[in-house]
Amino acid sequence: MSALFSPIKLRGLELANRIMVAPMCQYSADNGEANDWHFTHINSLALSGAAMFCIEATHVEDIGRITPGCLGLWNDATEAALKPILASVRKHSKAAVAMQIAHAGRKGSSYRPWEGGQLIPQSAGGWQTVAPSAVPHKEGETAPLALDATGLARIRDAFVNTAKRADRLGIDAIEVHSAHGYLLHQFLSPIANKRSDQYGGSLQNRMRYPLEVFDAVRAAFPDHKPVGVKVSATDWVEGGWDIEQTIEYAHELKKRGVDWIDASSGGVSPLQKIPLGPGYQVPLAQAVRQATGITTMAVGLITEAKQAEEIVASGKADMVALARAMLYDPRWGWHAAAELGGQVSAPPQYWRSQPSTHKALFGPTTFGAR
Ligand SMILES: Cc1cc2nc3c(=O)[nH]c(=O)nc-3n(C[C@H](O)[C@H](O)[C@H](O)COP(=O)(O)O)c2cc1C
Repeated sequence: MSALFSPIKLRGLELANRIMVAPMCQYSADNGEANDWHFTHINSLALSGAAMFCIEATHVEDIGRITPGCLGLWNDATEAALKPILASVRKHSKAAVAMQIAHAGRKGSSYRPWEGGQLIPQSAGGWQTVAPSAVPHKEGETAPLALDATGLARIRDAFVNTAKRADRLGIDAIEVHSAHGYLLHQFLSPIANKRSDQYGGSLQNRMRYPLEVFDAVRAAFPDHKPVGVKVSATDWVEGGWDIEQTIEYAHELKKRGVDWIDASSGGVSPLQKIPLGPGYQVPLAQAVRQATGITTMAVGLITEAKQAEEIVASGKADMVALARAMLYDPRWGWHAAAELGGQVSAPPQYWRSQPSTHKALFGPTTFGAR
């Protein structure tokens, strides 16, 4: 019996296995609106065998986008663009669909990664970014504007507005993006947060805004639908955000009903030193799970079926999230199920691909001809 292919419940959402397709920006939207690329990409990975597909960082306002190509959900046009995609996924896939909701803060106004990923000056079509403090991400960059009370309220309300639109689109779960050096992580990390008001200084103060956003999103999204949080569990910089503070944050989120913590790392400082290697962030998920008992997702260089199985079976994490391995092998979940003796749901159009050595891979199937 595979642990990876055993069911799990996140609040009211039942998942047939422990695999999520991690959110992956596609940098391909027009004015935040999804298009034919997203249609193909999302429909394809909704058939990966993962029980849940998480839509890429979906931004809550236009200046909250990382790049001009980033996806948004802040008005009727961005909502309408996602509607046919969701309708198609529902028709052909049994995967649950989560959406990561995000604000880039001072990491907004960037060129797409394949254009170099650096800050776009306002003179070249970029925009003035906002952040907890007027401290640029990289030395020499134009500083962001420090958010005042009005700005904080606007962005919190934008998260709420996006959560409501996501619910209207039939999204099953929300992941609040509090990682990778984007706005909420900027509040948590003393590297980006130099405020002297109630949102800066002590850990309690640095957590205040992300927790206010979480509370507001949780209250706006239906009770039966789960809300998780992706964290950078450490900045990998001396004097930055670290696993001890992450555990305190997780305790606070637990009090507020968080349904999972997705444990990533880094992103707030170019000075980070990341010890990359297979499953390098798994100990971070494990530490959060052990200290808090929250359902935890491990993410980062999980590429092999047996590796994922071991993470879940040994209790290091409750679920795994995979990004690059899913792009490389969009049927990763099928192949893992075949290897581990699990079962996945596949559309009938593809049933004939079931290997003769794995007759139960797709569960009960029939196909005939005359
Ligand atoms: C193309 C691409 C886009 C990504 N976009 C996002 C994103 O929108 N939100 C996020 O939290 N992480 C994003 N990530 C990070 C992944 O979700 C994941 O945390 C990271 O890639 C490590 O997992 P992996 O080794 O399985 O790729 C992205 C990664 C890739 C490769």
